[in-house]
Amino acid sequence: MTDNIRHRFAQSGELARTLVLFFILLACSPFSFSQNLLTNPGFESGTSGWTLDGDASAQFTESNGRSGSRLTHWSSSSSYTAETKQAVTGLAAGTYRLSAYTVGGETAGAWLWAYCDGESFSTPIPSSPWGNWAQVAVDNILVSGGSCELGITTENSEWSSFDDVVFEWVSGGGPGELVIEEGTGFCDVDGSVDSNHSGYNGSGFANTDNAMGNGVEWRVQVPAGGSYQLEWRYANTSDNNRAGSVVVNGNAVATVDFPSTGAWTSWASSSANIALSAGENTIRLEAVSGEGLGNIDSLSVTGDSPQAVDCGGSPPGGVFKPDYILGAAITWTLEHESIGRSYSDQGQTKSIERILVDHGFNFARLRTFVCPECPGGYLDNLYSGAGPTENWGDTAHTIELAQRVKACGMGVFLDFMLSDTWASIGKQYRPSQWQGMSDAQIRAASYNHAKDVLDQMVAAGVKPDMVQCGNENNTHVSGYSYNDWAGFSGVINSCIRAVRETDPEITVVAHHGRPRPDGDFPFWVDRVFGSNPPIDADVVCGSTYGTTNNGGDWWDMFNYVIDTTGKPVMSCEYTDGRRDLVNNTFLSLPNDMGVGTFIWEPAGYGDRRPFNYSNGVYYTNSSMDEYARIAREAGLPVPSTPASQLQGTSCQ
Ligand code: GCU
Ligand code: CA
Repeated sequence: MTDNIRHRFAQSGELARTLVLFFILLACSPFSFSQNLLTNPGFESGTSGWTLDGDASAQFTESNGRSGSRLTHWSSSSSYTAETKQAVTGLAAGTYRLSAYTVGGETAGAWLWAYCDGESFSTPIPSSPWGNWAQVAVDNILVSGGSCELGITTENSEWSSFDDVVFEWVSGGGPGELVIEEGTGFCDVDGSVDSNHSGYNGSGFANTDNAMGNGVEWRVQVPAGGSYQLEWRYANTSDNNRAGSVVVNGNAVATVDFPSTGAWTSWASSSANIALSAGENTIRLEAVSGEGLGNIDSLSVTGDSPQAVDCGGSPPGGVFKPDYILGAAITWTLEHESIGRSYSDQGQTKSIERILVDHGFNFARLRTFVCPECPGGYLDNLYSGAGPTENWGDTAHTIELAQRVKACGMGVFLDFMLSDTWASIGKQYRPSQWQGMSDAQIRAASYNHAKDVLDQMVAAGVKPDMVQCGNENNTHVSGYSYNDWAGFSGVINSCIRAVRETDPEITVVAHHGRPRPDGDFPFWVDRVFGSNPPIDADVVCGSTYGTTNNGGDWWDMFNYVIDTTGKPVMSCEYTDGRRDLVNNTFLSLPNDMGVGTFIWEPAGYGDRRPFNYSNGVYYTNSSMDEYARIAREAGLPVPSTPASQLQGTSCQ
């Protein structure tokens, strides 16, 4: 969805109009009342002032509005997208609210949204009985860059009707405190963004590599030159106070001490009053000792209307995209541990994720189910040897394992099964809670499921770096056949919409279970990306278990994807027996189009494994060393995270 909502510049007339509104707002009484900032918000002048994207003929006004006319989205075509939107510029920094009234419809496929400063804010628009106008609103829309795009989108075969859209200022401006975590305004760290010591806010903290001159950089904008208080939240266990030089717009202006807080999980603040210039300022905190800085959680700027400025590019630590992924699916880990099993490497007991890190693996794939505890769900078919003693495969367990994976510095690839139990070729059952729902309700349920899991993961500091919506969807998903394209694409794309809204940088993967000519693979590729609407994926992956010609069929099939869609490719599953064949294939595809590979449950599955099992212990065998060799051949560091960085963390 975010992909469709591109920032557009307002036409100059519109700009002038909104600027006039803005100055009237300022002149009357600054920020003491709110006013609708939209042009033609009640559609009394047809759709003038609005931009009609998607299928323009599906967007028109009719009588019987809440008052006067209303906007309707409808088309006789079975699948359409209607996006009615408007750009507003000249906005004061602050918090805004967008609302609209809706009536009738089968509107689970409709959204009210705002797109401001690269962030999207949205709410689904529910259906409302005919004659009964219901209000929907998006609150807490943060504006710092002065402009937003606002709109209403209806997808697929829904219809819906709207009236009285309001976009209004709520609060902000004037003296204030700006706190910059890992989002807008956080530009760079000479090191990494970590989340392995608790107590931080946002999604992590900046950890400089320990050397003099390494630092962290932010960008803020202020309306007039003057003194601002800069305050850093940090942790430091060193006896050295790890002082930092404050460099504003290239000039060293102060030195701030960061005395020991006693533990990496104990956080404190240090501050300084610093002069900032009108307009944009780059603020850098730079280590003056050879130990680097302490771990820096956030920068707060207090003074007149400070605003965070987009630094360009994706923020550091946003989404992990290594040059090559050497990954492993390890969801069985918690289940194995629950029945007393452990992992051992060279005579040392370690967690499986630490063993993987020590052999160059840099990513873990975790599967999650809609309702694993529902009848016929995953708990009835674990295949790990564990009992249904806990709700394995639910969001809480996914987060628990993701935290362990991220503490080791690895990326997280989240696999939405979109099912209560295993989803694989030929087994794509509808989640029990979705049974009896209309198509539109199922799309909403798919979106809500994904959004809920992703929101919880973000809140827990473990935003996934890569996501697949559906598993081995050769012909079906959640009980829909791909012959019912609106149903099939609707479930998958609704889930993908939630991913895009979480962070458009997250890589989205479409998964086929048999990427071979005898798996109808080219036909599937054409259908998935050539249908209307296409599946909104960035990467195509396959389960590369079997091959009849020593990998030649995979080579042909993945080159077919690259040639016809331009999308990169990956192995989502393979076993140790195919270790070299699979990795050689993805490492040698043209133009680095092979993203990487994920071995499937390396401890517990496969005829050949990099572990030998005996008396409750999985011991690494020589095959594990071959993965370290492959990592080195791929140019990856081994271990994938230096052991020194893992001291004192939970990655042991
Ligand atoms: C440890 C700690 C890191 C910290 C580092 C340091 O490795 O886990 O979070 O940054 O020490 O000394 O800077
Ligand atoms: Ca450090």
